[in-house]
Amino acid sequence: MTHQTDFVPSAENSRLLRDAFGRFATGVTIVTVASEDGPVAITANSFSSLSLSPPLLLWSIDRGANRFRYFEQAEHFAVHILSAAQKSLCWDVAKDAFCLRGRALGENGDGVPLLEGALARFECARHAAYDGGDHMICVGRVLRASLSEADCADASEALTFFKGSEGRFHPIESA
Ligand SMILES: Cc1cc2nc3c(=O)[nH]c(=O)nc-3n(C[C@H](O)[C@H](O)[C@H](O)COP(=O)(O)O)c2cc1C
Repeated sequence: MTHQTDFVPSAENSRLLRDAFGRFATGVTIVTVASEDGPVAITANSFSSLSLSPPLLLWSIDRGANRFRYFEQAEHFAVHILSAAQKSLCWDVAKDAFCLRGRALGENGDGVPLLEGALARFECARHAAYDGGDHMICVGRVLRASLSEADCADASEALTFFKGSEGRFHPIESA
C-alpha cells in the first residue's frame, strides 16, 4: 500500500516541500564564474535547457547562499554537466565555493574558469535574471558549447540527484 502525505506549503512544513521537489530526479551541474577572489563555483541541479534558437539555458541560485554575490553580477559563467566520475567534485564544490583554487583549470576568453571531464559544457553570457522567490533565476546565452565522449563507464554516465542522494543514470533495458 502507498502512504500519501497531502499538505499546503507553509513555513512550518518547508521540509515536506523540499522533499517533494527532491522527487524530481535531475542531473547535476557545476556553474563557475571568475571573481576578484579567484574562481568561484556552485553545484546546481536547478539547470534546465531553455531555448535552441536563440541558444538559452537557465538555472537558479539561492539568494541566501554566501556565494550568491559572485553569481548575481557575473556577466559570464560556464555550466558543466557532471559525469558519475565527478561525484566528489560535486560535494567539494557544494561545501566550498573556492575549492577550485589551486586545481588545474582552463579559462575562456571571458576569463571564466573551465573544468575538464564534464559530459557537456556551456560557456554563457548573462542573458537575463528573474525573481524566483528566495532564488534568482539566471538565464544564460550559450556562446560556446562542448560535448565529450569517454570510454570508461564512470566518465560517460550522468551523475544524478534524487531524494537528496547522488546516483548515476542507467537506461531501462528494453525487453
Ligand atoms: C546536488 C546539489 C544540487 C544543488 N543545487 C543547487 C541549486 O540549483 N541552486 C543553489 O542555489 N544551490 C544548490 N545547491 C547548494 C549549493 O551547491 C551550495 O551548497 C549552497 O549554495 C551553499 O552555499 P554557501 O556555502 O555559499 O552558503 C546544490 C547542492 C547539491 C549538493
